[in-house]
Amino acid sequence: MSDEIHRLLREDLRGKRPYGAPQIQVPIALNTNENAYPLDDEVVAVVSRHLEQRLRNLNRYPDRDAVDLRHDLAKYLGAGLSVDNLWAANGSNEILQQLLQAFGGPNRTALGFMPSYSMHPLLARGTGTDFVDAGRRADYSLDAEHVAQAITAHDPDVTFLVSPNNPTGTALTTDVITAAYDASHGLVVVDEAYAEFARDSSHSAIHLLPGRSRLVVSRTMSKAFAFAGARVGYLAADPAVVEALQLVRLPYHLSALTQAAARGALECSEQLQHGVERLRRERDRIVDTLRSWGLPVADSDANFVLFGGLTDSHAVWQKLLDRGVLVRDIGLDGRLRVTAGTETETTGFLDALDSTRNENPELFVEAEQ
Ligand SMILES: Cc1ncc(COP(=O)(O)O)c(C=O)c1O
Repeated sequence: MSDEIHRLLREDLRGKRPYGAPQIQVPIALNTNENAYPLDDEVVAVVSRHLEQRLRNLNRYPDRDAVDLRHDLAKYLGAGLSVDNLWAANGSNEILQQLLQAFGGPNRTALGFMPSYSMHPLLARGTGTDFVDAGRRADYSLDAEHVAQAITAHDPDVTFLVSPNNPTGTALTTDVITAAYDASHGLVVVDEAYAEFARDSSHSAIHLLPGRSRLVVSRTMSKAFAFAGARVGYLAADPAVVEALQLVRLPYHLSALTQAAARGALECSEQLQHGVERLRRERDRIVDTLRSWGLPVADSDANFVLFGGLTDSHAVWQKLLDRGVLVRDIGLDGRLRVTAGTETETTGFLDALDSTRNENPELFVEAEQ
């Protein structure tokens, strides 16, 4: 960056690096928790039909409030929700940003429990919100007592809970969410980007919304709907929260094509669920196989797995990359995160890790004993 631009930049942004996993071209990319299955022909046909119907009217701005899409999202979630409870944006990242724009900001605080989704502190910084990291237990779990204590101590305007958590993969039980809500005077945002992959769907905070006007559940079509490229995220909350977000959203933030494509994908939600089931199986295969090798693996309710037992996680990351497999080095000592892939991709990852174990036993804790 030139000195001149550096001087003009906000002080709190100087010297900072942009978010982003490396986008390296490899045969097996399992590093960004995407859905491994491309949309099948039938889904492509339905989405195309929706897009085509809207193409001719691209001279007009889209529905600013995305009412039809919100209606479809409410129908998808069920649980007695209606269009007034739903809001949609360009990915759940934009949903989270809008929440911080409306409820965070200068002289306000957001609280999170790291390691968790790394965009939460970055979005806080971008909106001028202070971010407090209340941490987790040594095994990265989170319990009701710790959460309630941290919220009582810091009295945040916005609390972020992530369930299933990224990068650990484990879902919260509902007692943790209700404890957070009861201890808080502010907004409690449950980021459920991976909810559809959970082993037990009853843990979703969607069921806790009635009577809790400060509770917000953030979701995305990026993962379960295999729609990461379309950028569609949404939330469910009290209608007053949705009204508040309309104060900060850009006019026409969600393009007519995005809205149309999302409605097409929602029409195919049952079909897309098959991909979720296949990925759940691959995730469980990774968990079972790595555990059978004696590696510590966190329980996963997501489409990825956090595993440990590595003496040098970056060296293992590199060895896997040398074998054409890209996983995520999330900067946690001795651990790596891998996304569940197709059956072939998952086998490719397991084979590459097994070969690394055989050729470089010194990189694995087990081998030292
Ligand atoms: C926990 C969590 N929340 C939100 C997101 C953002 O997803 P998107 O903006 O694609 O909806 C991600 C993406 O990986 C995530 O892991």
